[in-house]
Amino acid sequence: MTPSAIEVQMICRKVDELCGIQWDESKTYLIESRLKPLLNSFGLTSYEALIRSIPLNDKLRIALIDAITTRETLFFRDDAAYQALEHKALPEIIDARSGTLFPKKLRIWSAACSSGQEPYSIGMMLHRMIPDIHNWNIQIHATDISEAAIAHASRGRYSDLEMSRGIPADIKAKYFTRVGSEWQICDQIRSLVSFEKRNLLNPLTALGRFDVVLCRNVAIYFDLPVKRDLFERLANVMETHGVLIVGTSENLMGYGQRWAPQRHCRSVYYRPNLLEQPC
Ligand SMILES: C[S@@+](CC[C@H](N)C(=O)[O-])C[C@H]1O[C@@H](n2cnc3c(N)ncnc32)[C@H](O)[C@@H]1O
Repeated sequence: MTPSAIEVQMICRKVDELCGIQWDESKTYLIESRLKPLLNSFGLTSYEALIRSIPLNDKLRIALIDAITTRETLFFRDDAAYQALEHKALPEIIDARSGTLFPKKLRIWSAACSSGQEPYSIGMMLHRMIPDIHNWNIQIHATDISEAAIAHASRGRYSDLEMSRGIPADIKAKYFTRVGSEWQICDQIRSLVSFEKRNLLNPLTALGRFDVVLCRNVAIYFDLPVKRDLFERLANVMETHGVLIVGTSENLMGYGQRWAPQRHCRSVYYRPNLLEQPC
């Protein structure tokens, strides 16, 4: 069933309201391919009925968000970004913390973690980088708006296809075990990561401050005011020496004075500028 022009408008407004993702009539094919299955499973007769049912039906809202979101990800996505983290940003932070009294703490936030490849990649990287990791309090907080994404990530189990994307053989052998037809991340890495369902449009409350924030390949779906507001608010959850990593196709040029670009080889990451701190 193809949505009418009015239904497309209603859906695009609802998608924007729920998650900030910008859809327009050019996405009619996506609406049909992703939302039509919901009509069948929730016994709805039209897209208009689907939109009208959202405020009344939590399960439908959750299923709609799962259907809307594009959760494409892979382990160690974008080599240059991980090189910058491993060889520049993280060693500086780790060196600075090494002198502090026990426990040495490191807080990282994967702000749109999808099915978990990003936070686990960071966990495996830190495990290799910090020989006395047992003396550290490492917290990798991983959040996403999609319940399906968080469930997958929290389970930490991946198919052969997912494992074939980004994981070198030695890392796979070291940190994963075969369980049936899938691969399970080991407890040592799993225990570094906590998961939470969180909408980046909402206030960033109760998060504390982070040494590293990865906000990658999610703001590309938002419009400019939402992007600006998000990156403004992210500056407030960073430690002063903290580092923000965005996706390879993203940059914070033109987003005001809150972020200073830092370069490492082919990669750019950002540090918060110590300007005023709006709340
Ligand atoms: C393309 S994936 C990126 C995953 C990972 N960061 C990476 O770069 O590989 C985008 C993720 O953003 C999440 N997302 C979309 N809108 C969001 C929002 N408003 N708040 C939090 N997460 C959101 C989606 O559920 C999806 O998992």
